[in-house]
Order: sequence, then C-alpha cells, then structure tokens
Amino acid sequence: MNSEKLRKADLLDDLKKSMSFYQALGFENLPIKLARGNQQSAMTGKGNGQSASEKKILLEALRSEIGDCTRCKLSKKRTTIVFGEGDPGAKIMFIGEAPGREEDLQGRPFVGDAGMVLTRLINKMGFQREDVYIANIVKCRPPVNRDPEMDEIETCRKFLEGQIAIIRPRVIVSLGRISAATLTGNPGLKITAVRGKFFDYKGIPVMPTFHPAYLMRSPKDKWLTWDDALRVLERIGEETGVKSNKTDI
Ligand code: URA
Repeated sequence: MNSEKLRKADLLDDLKKSMSFYQALGFENLPIKLARGNQQSAMTGKGNGQSASEKKILLEALRSEIGDCTRCKLSKKRTTIVFGEGDPGAKIMFIGEAPGREEDLQGRPFVGDAGMVLTRLINKMGFQREDVYIANIVKCRPPVNRDPEMDEIETCRKFLEGQIAIIRPRVIVSLGRISAATLTGNPGLKITAVRGKFFDYKGIPVMPTFHPAYLMRSPKDKWLTWDDALRVLERIGEETGVKSNKTDI
C-alpha cells in the first residue's frame, strides 16, 4: 500500500474506533463540533489512552449528550443537573449517590455539609478537590433527598458509565450503600459488609466506604473511612506521610 492509502486506512481505523467508543458510551450521534486543533486527538478513539485534554473534550461531549434531560422523573423537581467536576485525568474518582439541596442549587457535587466532610477527606489524602473527580450515581436531586429509585439509577447509569470510561481513574471510591450497590450490581448489599475491601468494576479497583453524610451522624466511624482511604493511597502508590488511622476527617 502506498503512504496515502495507509494514511486513509489509519484514518478510517481511527474513525471506526471512535464510533464504537461513542456507541459504548450510549451516544446516538457524534455530539461534538471539534475545533480544528482538537480534531486529531479526539478522533483517535484510544479508549482509555487519552490525554487529560482529550478526556475533557469527551466529558464535555457527554455532558451535551445529557442536555436538559427529561429521561426520568427526577427531572420534574430538580433545579440543576449535577454532572460532576474535577480533573478529567484524575487518578481517583469519588462517586456519591445523588445531589442534595445545595448541589441542586449550585450544579456542583458535594458542596453542602456532606461535601465539607468529603473535601476534608480529600485534603487529608494529600489532594485538592481539583485533583480528583467527583460524580454521583444520579445527576438530579431526588425530592426531599429520598434514595434514588431503580428506574432513575438505570436511566442515568449510561452517563456514569460514560464518565468512568472516559476518566478511567486508577481507583474509584464509592461513597455509601447506593453507590457500591450500583457499581457491584448487588442491590441488597450492606455497606458495613463490603467497606474496606476492593472490588472490581470493569478492570478498575473500587473501594467502598461510608457516605460522608453517614459520617456526620456517626463520627466515631470516621477512622474506618480513613483506613479505607489509606488503602486507596497505597493502591495508587501515593506517599501520605500520615501514619495514624485515627486521624479525624
Ligand atoms: N450526597 C451525595 O451523594 N452527593 C452529593 O453530591 C451531595 C450529597
């Protein structure tokens, strides 16, 4: 094959990979207008080999795919869709349950009281919020902060899966029962039985731990979550300099 033909075959191959990547994310159309400079990198379809800037573009595309979502009944009462935020190239991804009142108003995850506990945990682990990625199982606030229902979780699942597929963090920390139950596919799971033990989600280790809102009610259990956090740091090979597992969060 001459070099021109090879180049075309490569481009076609890239396009095919890219199309199946978007399809795996549940996209019905290629949803982005790529700026010229981004075109090459975003169309390589490398799956999890993307740079942080490519991941940022893909996350923006995923966000525009969600649009002004009315796919489930949570859309009726929500104020703002809370997509998630942080470093698209993050090593650690925290996944909570659903936005609460403050998150619904601000459109950002974990910015209320439970968010303060999560932020302290992230800081104690040696990171800023901007260094990690924070998302939720469902992107809209359930009325009066009730648990999200199965149909709502299932409707939103492809968007969470898309976020995970794009970010491909080294470790996921699932916060609370609903997050762990959704990622394991075991709705009957008890958080006390599974916390502190890694499980696998599509090749990514997941550390289930308590939800920050639970830790506000039961501060005596904070050291258990800190223990789980130390395991996460060990897994990603991060030096903490913190030896005590009794550290308050
Ligand atoms: N609780 C969650 O699970 N997620 C948030 O974003 C806020 C509170």
